[in-house]
Amino acid sequence: MTAQDRVLIQTVVLLMVIVQGETQVGCVFGGSCVLPCRFQPNSDTILHWVKKNGENVQVHSYYKDQDQLGYQDPLYKGRTSLFLDQISGGNASLRLARVNLQDQGRYLCYTSTSQDNQETFVTLTVRAPVARVDIVLVNNTVTCQSGGIYPRPQLTWSVSPRPATVLQNTTEVHEDDQGLYDISGSLRTVYNDTESTYSCSVQNEHSARKATMRQHPPMQSGPKSEVLLPCNASGLYDITWTFNHDQTILRKQAGQEKPQVEPEWQQHVRELSESGSLLLYVTSSAKSEGTYRCTLRYADETDVTRIELKILEDPSEEGSYRTHYLLSIPFLLVILSIFVIISLYIKQRKAKETQHSPQEKNPLSVIRG
Ligand SMILES: *[C@@H]1O[C@H](CO)[C@@H](O)[C@H](O)[C@H]1NC(C)=O
Ligand SMILES: *[C@@H]1O[C@H](CO)[C@@H](O)[C@H](O)[C@H]1NC(C)=O
Ligand SMILES: *[C@@H]1O[C@H](CO)[C@@H](O)[C@H](O)[C@H]1NC(C)=O
Ligand SMILES: *[C@@H]1O[C@H](CO)[C@@H](O)[C@H](O)[C@H]1NC(C)=O
Ligand SMILES: *[C@@H]1O[C@H](CO)[C@@H](O)[C@H](O)[C@H]1NC(C)=O
Repeated sequence: MTAQDRVLIQTVVLLMVIVQGETQVGCVFGGSCVLPCRFQPNSDTILHWVKKNGENVQVHSYYKDQDQLGYQDPLYKGRTSLFLDQISGGNASLRLARVNLQDQGRYLCYTSTSQDNQETFVTLTVRAPVARVDIVLVNNTVTCQSGGIYPRPQLTWSVSPRPATVLQNTTEVHEDDQGLYDISGSLRTVYNDTESTYSCSVQNEHSARKATMRQHPPMQSGPKSEVLLPCNASGLYDITWTFNHDQTILRKQAGQEKPQVEPEWQQHVRELSESGSLLLYVTSSAKSEGTYRCTLRYADETDVTRIELKILEDPSEEGSYRTHYLLSIPFLLVILSIFVIISLYIKQRKAKETQHSPQEKNPLSVIRG
């Protein structure tokens, strides 16, 4: 073996050590996470977990067969633990709970026994996936929003069919006090566009979620009747039906047998079908006319169907004024006919009287009387 070969082998071994020493761990914000570390077990075990960000931050220590937390940095108080029953087997992994963004960085696992000492490095990164995206359509603006995301997310729109005019869209991103990102985007649509479907996607390196706003063609119904508001659900979903932006009609979570219907809607809700369609009893335009929304939440998607319902009032039911007015026509006709009949009768009587009067004035009758 030449000297050159030996250098090469040594370099390869060194590289393997470095690669092995730089474990990457991705943790979910708010969750718990294990930073792995193994050592050759022996007697007199000493373990130190230290965060190396310029200065050394004491994360967790163990010696004399027990945890030693006297010098633990307050940032880690109550959040760290070792697998105590596994230490004798060479497992020095650290469990970290309630992970936050400040936990990101490089950690050193230092182990020492009566035989040797060892250093292992673990790099921790934190991610907060896009959990849920909400979408609303008010007047001619579609707004989409999500929050609690890390790293910084992006928002994109897709519209189909795409209207001929240019759509204006804006996106705002805010960082909250925990370092997570809130994002909201709005898209100005063509006024009274009831055709297009709007989709918004929020995504970062680790996750993506989508929300879609569909518009059902406007529907009509008579008052005091049942109407089926369609919704197209499939698979596993949570469903919410709402009325005019903020009134909840009912909710049902995936796996629940029956929907929870709000008290003021119990008179109106007849049935919720398998596909999420709602059979509703509508009363008057004042009470039942408006915008109905079916919101379906799937694992990685929100799907909103929006329906404008118009109640066509029966003219005879509309107002008391008109009701009386309309009622009075047949009433007048009846009165008029009675009047006509009576006057005809009286006329006839009068005619008979004039016919009879000469007879009455007949001297014979006077004689008879
Ligand atoms: C250490 O033990 C824990 C608990 O059994 C286990 O989850 C983890 O994978 C082990 N780590 C290593 C590096 O062996
Ligand atoms: C939508 O339009 C109505 C009527 O033009 C207006 O009163 C309302 O404030 C608008 N809503 C929003 C959120 O702009
Ligand atoms: C949103 O705006 C960006 C640039 O401002 C543009 O590239 C994009 O096409 C717009 N999206 C839609 C759906 O109009
Ligand atoms: C939009 O629709 C509403 C009711 O459907 C109507 O009153 C309004 O005039 C329409 N506006 C335009 C610009 O078409
Ligand atoms: C309902 O959804 C399914 C897929 O989820 C789709 O194939 C079907 O075309 C939809 N039907 C309507 C009427 O939108």
